[in-house]
This record gives sequence, C-alpha cells and structure tokens, in this order.
Amino acid sequence: MGMKEKLAELHEVMNRELSETDGMQALDALRVKMLGKKGELTALLRGMGQLSPEERPAAGQMINEAREKFTAMLEEKQAALKAKERALALAREKLDVTQPAEIPAMGSMHPVNLVMQEMVDCFAGMGFEVVEGPEVELDHYNFELMNIPKNHPARDAQDTFYVDDNIVLRTHTSPMQARTMLTRKPPIRVVCPGRVYRADEVDATHSPVFHQMEGLVIDKDVNMADLRGTLNAFAERIYGKGITTRFRPSFFPFTEPSTEVDLTCAACHGKGCRVCKGTGWIEVLGGGMVNPKVLEMCGIDSSVYSGFAFGIGLERIAMQRYAIPDMRLLYEGDVRFLGQYR
Ligand code: DAH
Repeated sequence: MGMKEKLAELHEVMNRELSETDGMQALDALRVKMLGKKGELTALLRGMGQLSPEERPAAGQMINEAREKFTAMLEEKQAALKAKERALALAREKLDVTQPAEIPAMGSMHPVNLVMQEMVDCFAGMGFEVVEGPEVELDHYNFELMNIPKNHPARDAQDTFYVDDNIVLRTHTSPMQARTMLTRKPPIRVVCPGRVYRADEVDATHSPVFHQMEGLVIDKDVNMADLRGTLNAFAERIYGKGITTRFRPSFFPFTEPSTEVDLTCAACHGKGCRVCKGTGWIEVLGGGMVNPKVLEMCGIDSSVYSGFAFGIGLERIAMQRYAIPDMRLLYEGDVRFLGQYR
C-alpha cells in the first residue's frame, strides 16, 4: 500500500473515531493514537527509511499535511465538545431570578420559651437580674431553707422525685431564693426561670416537668404594696391594658403573709366567661413577704431588711396567652402545632 492510501485510510479512521468520540478523555486517547510518539503518523515517518530518496520528500510532505489536518480535526472536535459541555452546564445551573425565593425551613420558638422571654424582658425592665440554678437540688435548699421541715406534706414522696436522701429534682424554683440570699447582699432583685419536677400524672393541666419563674426582692422597707405594683405592671405587660391583680390570703411556709394572686381574665376582661368559670379572675401565681425565718436562715438580718417573693407557672401563662386547651400539646413536639408560634 502506498503512502497516499495509508494516509487516506488513517483519515477515514480519524473521521469514524471522531464521530464516535463524546468526551475529552476519548479525544485525548485518539490524539495519542494518531499523533503521539508511538502513534500512527510517527510510525509512518519511521517507515520512510524504506522509501527511495526520490520518494521521500513527497511522502514527508504528505505526512506533515496529514499531521496538520488531523491536528485541526482534533481541535475542532475539542472545541465542539467544550461548547457542548458548557451548554450543558449552563442549562444545569440555570437560575431564574424572577422565581420567588425558596424559604429555608426555620425552627420556631416554643410557646413556653416565648412567654419566658417576654417575662424576663418585663422584669429586666423593672431592674431584675436573671439568675439560674440547678434542677438537681439539695433537699436543704429545696425544702429546709424554704422553711419546709422534714415532716411537711409538700415533701410527700408522691410529689417529689428523690435522687437520694439529700438530693431531689427541685419541686419549685424557690430554692433559688436561698441560693441568691446566701451569695449576695441586699438590695436583691432577681428572677429565676427554669424547669421544675413533680411526680404528677400527665393530664390536660399537669406534667411531671414544667416551668416556673421565681421572683425575689430584698431591700429596706419592702412591703406588700411593692409586690402588688410589680405584679400589676407584669400583668399589663403580658396581657395588656386593663389587666390587674387580685390578692387572696393563702399559705406558703416561706412567705408570711402569703397570697394567691389572680389576674383579670384576659378572655373576657373580667366580665365572666367559660375560661374563668364566670368569676372574671384567673389564678396564676403565689407570693408573699419573705418569711423572716427564711431571711435569717439565709443570713439576712430581718430587723433591717424585708422582701417579697413570687412564683409563676409558665405553662399556665402560655396556655392562657395562646388559648392552648391541653398542656400535653406543649410537650408532644408536634411541629404542626408548635410551628404556629414565632
Ligand atoms: N414555690 C411555690 C410553688 O411551687 C410558688 C410560690 C409561692 C413561690 C409563693 C413563691 C412564693 O416565691 O412567695 O407552688
């Protein structure tokens, strides 16, 4: 076979293989096969030694022309492949800036945290500091220093989760009163939000874990009217104008006198409705003047200082606030329900 025929054959191979090539790797392989050091054209050049001296120049020229031709063909194919790749990438990465943005799924605030935050804000605005304490608490703080001695019914094993004889899961946030008085000097103005534990069955209004916020103010000449004013401000802030408090006499071992505090029913504004069972009032918290016994046990001179304290159940506030009929909704973690609160 003459040089011309061989080159024509290679040309055909080039055409066929180029048309079958659909990627850069295959194209490179073809380049090596045709133009590489061990490729077809190099082999032809090597074979020129067997030609007569007259034939050589023409053969050499043909091979060189073929090399140029093949190089051009490969380049053209490469350009075509690149263009195709780019078109694909553009189609893939196409961005329609007129489309509405896809909003990433966001978490939402839990209703209990929402009211907690709002209450913290409210009391911070009145000069209270926020303190937090341990949920696993010494009996000493949870009971003894709160003037709840060993045989008090509030310590009944049915109500309290005992870790051992001296350690409990705190049954209220009140032990933070003792912890605060023992580590700070008056004037004291703190609120303590947090989880508390009671061995209660779960139902629409009970849960073994719930939240309270304790408040404590200790200073000279603090009296019941200060408690009233503070709680009235709180009531208006959380429920709106016109909501006020009603104090009813009560008993807590750690306050003397003690009071149970009702707020104007926010559902009917005091007219009487189903929510407040026609009374116009809703019971939301306990409070009173800190028992001088408690002050003394916590190292505060009760002849110089007095104080008030209160404890608010956060679930109760959240349920009223958002008209949530069943406490279990707060703990079941159903995002269809929880996602409504922002
Ligand atoms: N610790 C009480 C409870 O869990 C609530 C309470 C009542 C807290 C009166 C107080 C208070 O600080 O003065 O039921």
